[in-house]
Amino acid sequence: MSMWAPHGFYLGYMGIMLAWGQSGHFDGLNVGPSSLKQNRLLKTVSKKELETALGKWFTNARDKEGKPALRAQRDYDRRAVQPEVLSLLMVSWTQGDTDEVCSDPLHLGLLQGTRVGEPQRADEGDRNEDFQPRIVPYHKDPSKPHKKVLRTRYIHTELGIRERLLVGILTSRATLNTLAVAVNRTVAHRFHRTFFFTGLRSAKLPHGMTVVAHGDDRPVWLMYETIRHLHQHHGNEYEWFYLAQDDTYTQAERIMNLVGHLSSGQDLYMGRAEEFIGGEERARYCHGGYGYLLSRSLLARLQPHLDSCRNDILSVRPDEWLGRCIIDFLGLSCMEKHQEMTYYYFELQKNADPEREDSIQFKNAFSVHPVSEPALMYRLHKRYSQIELEWTYAQIQQLQVQISNLSELTPDGKAGATWPIGVNPPFHPKTRFEVINWEYFTEEHIFSCADSSPKCELRGVDRADVNSILETAVERLNERYQPQLRFRKQRLLNGYRRFDPTRGMEYILDLALQAFTQKGHSQVIAKRVGLLRPLSAIEIIPMPYVTEATRVQVILPVTVRDQDFVGNFLDTYVMNTLDTRDNALLTFLFVYDPFDAQRVSQTDVFASVKSMISEVEKRYSDVKIPWISVKTEVPSQVKLMDIISKKHPVDTLFFLASVWTEVTGDFLNRCRMNAISNWQVFFPVHFQEYSPALVYRDQQPSAASSFSSEALRDGRFDRHAFEEACFYNADYMATRTKMATDIMDNEELLESMDVYEIFVRYSSLHVFRAVEPALIQKYVRRACNPRFSEDIYHRCVLSNLEGLASRSHLAMALFEQEQANST
Ligand SMILES: *[C@@H]1O[C@H](CO)[C@@H](O)[C@H](O)[C@H]1NC(C)=O
Ligand SMILES: *[C@@H]1O[C@H](CO)[C@@H](O)[C@H](O)[C@H]1NC(C)=O
Repeated sequence: MSMWAPHGFYLGYMGIMLAWGQSGHFDGLNVGPSSLKQNRLLKTVSKKELETALGKWFTNARDKEGKPALRAQRDYDRRAVQPEVLSLLMVSWTQGDTDEVCSDPLHLGLLQGTRVGEPQRADEGDRNEDFQPRIVPYHKDPSKPHKKVLRTRYIHTELGIRERLLVGILTSRATLNTLAVAVNRTVAHRFHRTFFFTGLRSAKLPHGMTVVAHGDDRPVWLMYETIRHLHQHHGNEYEWFYLAQDDTYTQAERIMNLVGHLSSGQDLYMGRAEEFIGGEERARYCHGGYGYLLSRSLLARLQPHLDSCRNDILSVRPDEWLGRCIIDFLGLSCMEKHQEMTYYYFELQKNADPEREDSIQFKNAFSVHPVSEPALMYRLHKRYSQIELEWTYAQIQQLQVQISNLSELTPDGKAGATWPIGVNPPFHPKTRFEVINWEYFTEEHIFSCADSSPKCELRGVDRADVNSILETAVERLNERYQPQLRFRKQRLLNGYRRFDPTRGMEYILDLALQAFTQKGHSQVIAKRVGLLRPLSAIEIIPMPYVTEATRVQVILPVTVRDQDFVGNFLDTYVMNTLDTRDNALLTFLFVYDPFDAQRVSQTDVFASVKSMISEVEKRYSDVKIPWISVKTEVPSQVKLMDIISKKHPVDTLFFLASVWTEVTGDFLNRCRMNAISNWQVFFPVHFQEYSPALVYRDQQPSAASSFSSEALRDGRFDRHAFEEACFYNADYMATRTKMATDIMDNEELLESMDVYEIFVRYSSLHVFRAVEPALIQKYVRRACNPRFSEDIYHRCVLSNLEGLASRSHLAMALFEQEQANST
């Protein structure tokens, strides 16, 4: 789950600022004038009321310095206005009488999907009407009983907000798996929805594409069925319909942009206008190879005539047939220009190479035709993506110039625009607690380490980060000074970086550079450069809703070796969940080794634990703590979990605990919030206290630190521990099923993995791993079982070592010991 993805860098150098990279962009809400005019909040207020209210406002607005008499009038008016306005705000949906409102001509098309388009069509002669607020008259019929308004399911239905564009690609059985797939891979994901229409379906349907097969291969029939289908199923959901053939390359951004600039609610038939064969008339049809746009209202008006067109118009070309039909019945001809927008297209010559096409027509084209084979489609896509990218960079640059030009007019003057332009300004701390630290680094070491040691080796992503930033710096300097100077990096003198959450990662580098002149002289110089790796494309991850009411099933596996700790576990469990009546259940899982299991009838190794349990049960008469016994030599987590999983319903939320876990109400809630069925599993990183023997040595531990409510201290989050987990049984079962084919009863593989690993490897769920301050463990030295996989064993050993004490505590202990030895 990455919260941000860096794209490119910014580099500033000695006051000269260069900027490049790609910034994120937002998609605006799709709310146009058509939705404004249908804002029906006003519907239960009468026109007269509104006019009165408005009139009062106007009297108020006029003549501010008016005479006392006027002012008195104004005050009176103001008093009069306020209740009116308030009542306007309080209009409730369920109060009004509704039949009249719903049958108001303006809204008919919305709620009753049948008469789409017609009622909303703007009057051509009176375009402005579209943007005027309208007052919906309110007639209350006293003879009718009061009725509740039926709300639509989604607010966008009521407001008349539609998606803008639906794309239909006309394909065929022969090309569905070649050209149509190429269309799908190049541009389909750019559109809200793309449908592929074909006559006959092929045996093998390409996956991930919505294919609609009409069952007849004749081209005109395909067109007829497609238009009918679009109107019938989507006529009310989209404003525009773009139809193209599968041998058309479509520049998706530009079509989207075109559609974004057209005002909806009008008949439109737009594309490359073509003359009819042998026809002398002026009417044109839109060539199917270059794609064309149809508006929703045109589809609606065309619908009743489609059958006549199919029966009466003879044509072999489907696009020509459609054009004829539109001209004959609606009197509309294909347009290349509409509302100052032009439909650009490009006709590709045979054997043309997209890389070499440089004409302005090519660069501006919305669509290209004919694309003879899939490879050509991909090459066109590459070329257009390049063009689009260059254009975007140029636009960014232009915007930056504009911003810096305008910044002179701001109160701060030129200094008001911070570098790099267009990126958030650096964060200014208000108090000393907010200061963001700079980390110092060289090419080999970093001087701020996770384990709080002063210096550690630069490794992994940090190393890659430093290398890439150095490369970029030198590269940019060379670009900047070519051809006079050429630079080669000698070494990094000093490096500083800090992460500014409003901006990105900032760097300051002192570089020792070898500079070469054109004549070949060279000299070593030191330069300081600043760079920024900006945040872009910040992703908001939608989360399903969870509640804190879920019951948590706590599972506690106990082995003979660990049973001494059970007493402590039970004490805290009783205090934090039973006494507080938290909605949790506890189940014990006793793990016997084969030897103990055999003689269980004589001596039960878990007898003492069982007596503790029955004591708790006696104390809380309504509490039952069941146990399950298993016999195994290697108590691998997965094996145990398999047994548990079978004994519980699928919707159980498990908290897999360890005997050292101290269950708290806070944590159980965290468990409920962070484990999301069919979405996320939660592996908390608990906090473990250091060994009191080392931390406090001879002194008494201060009383405070023995309470978990005290801030976390003298301990650390144990990143090596993966035993504790929260997840739903259904998720576990699904993951195990996916895993089943891989392991084929390979017992060893089962032993080598823990639950964490199988979720990571075999499920597509979010595996959420985070430090958990509500989960605290006392110091303990675990027995590491060498029968587990090397990985798990190694983690256990590391955890024990690192959990002993902090470096300073260890150092103090050593120091004291040495002193004791030397005296
Ligand atoms: C079609 O596009 C969708 C969405 O981009 C993708 O998931 C699917 O795999 C594509 N299908 C093929 C056959 O390429
Ligand atoms: C910015 O200002 C300069 C000089 O005043 C001017 O030449 C240039 O056209 C302006 N650029 C923009 C994009 O406004």
